[in-house]
Amino acid sequence: MWKPAGRSERSSSLSDLSGLEPRFTAMNIHVDTPLLTPVQMGALSLPNRIVMAPLTRMRADNPDHAPTELHARYYAQRASAGLIIGECTAISPEGFGWADTPGLWSDEQVRGWRLVTDAVHAAGGRIIAQLWHTGAMSHPDFFDGALPVSASNVDLEQISVTPSGRVPTVAPRPMSVHEIHDTVRAYGRAAKNAMEAGFDGVQLQANYLYLIAQFLSSGTNKRTDAYGGSIENRSRFLFEALDSILDEVAEDQVGIKFGPMHLAGPLAATEETLPTAEYVIRGLNDYSLSHLLLMGTNTDVDGSPIEHLAGDNMFRHFRRLYQGLLVANVDMDAQRANRLIAGDLVDLVAFGRPYIANPDLAERLALGAPLNEIDWPTVYASGARGYVDYAPLAPAGI
Ligand SMILES: Cc1cc2nc3c(=O)[nH]c(=O)nc-3n(C[C@H](O)[C@H](O)[C@H](O)COP(=O)(O)O)c2cc1C
Repeated sequence: MWKPAGRSERSSSLSDLSGLEPRFTAMNIHVDTPLLTPVQMGALSLPNRIVMAPLTRMRADNPDHAPTELHARYYAQRASAGLIIGECTAISPEGFGWADTPGLWSDEQVRGWRLVTDAVHAAGGRIIAQLWHTGAMSHPDFFDGALPVSASNVDLEQISVTPSGRVPTVAPRPMSVHEIHDTVRAYGRAAKNAMEAGFDGVQLQANYLYLIAQFLSSGTNKRTDAYGGSIENRSRFLFEALDSILDEVAEDQVGIKFGPMHLAGPLAATEETLPTAEYVIRGLNDYSLSHLLLMGTNTDVDGSPIEHLAGDNMFRHFRRLYQGLLVANVDMDAQRANRLIAGDLVDLVAFGRPYIANPDLAERLALGAPLNEIDWPTVYASGARGYVDYAPLAPAGI
């Protein structure tokens, strides 16, 4: 029988599997696996350690950028996850920058998300909102020709997803200090809206291509004021955004997605990437957040300054530095996930792509059942096809 190694305050009893009922009871499951054991995540009691990673699906194709009944169906189908992390959700009109994604700044959006949270809760699940500002990933097409904002005027050399299609990113406009303060406040307002919409908490999107990463990276942040230059200054925006969220939501309901990355263009890892990530993660220890979602490497890091963090080394490295609950992500399967949890390298495991085609991923992992294949053309599309029509497993005995 698997037993959690150390960190007993974060682990809970194998015998308490009440949260797995009724969806699991009819099946011959292997409950003696780390992934299927309950865990306390901040304020939330999770029945298992399977997390649905945030997945943008571009179904909010309405003028309000609001979730709909279709979103409610999609998320409710996935309610057997220990925790669902909602897709990237813009905190403000200025932070919007990816076609057909949802927001959390208006009453219509709060009403739309309420449909989702009610449906997930009715299906026995838990869901948190992911708070997002696209920064320089946005495009003038979203702003009547005006430039998107960022830390500095560095083109990310990425692709922007606009209402009229995929186009190259442009050099953004550096934010004034006044705009930075406004944006920090917008994180707090969106967090408040998330709680009004019935979410069980929020997660700050602080990695990958987006605004917070654009402030953190010396490749995209050329500022000479209090928000640029030193590691401490480049990290200031992240901590101010976090503090603003914490003005509205209790610490044990707030998590963060963060970690060092090596991307194409000016967001490529430099010698400063790892020290910056370490500074931030040490700083997160001053809070009692619900979790840190840490992505393993998902690009080719060979020859880069974060080469040594490939594979499980990412989790090994930051497990030593971070004192809170750690959620590991990227390229997971049941075997790797169970090994990472059993070895006390991480506490939970998040699955992204597998959740696209497998609404009942938790049951499938429990049973060792095969996974559905993703239909890629309908991942970023509109309507129900490829969104809510993936078949669940047939009930046992049929
Ligand atoms: C279609 C798609 C949409 C994604 N959308 C988001 C998102 O909205 N927010 C985010 O933080 N990550 C997003 N990601 C990254 C995933 O959350 C996850 O980190 C990544 O897919 C690696 O996990 P996996 O190997 O289990 O797929 C997305 C990934 C995919 C494939």
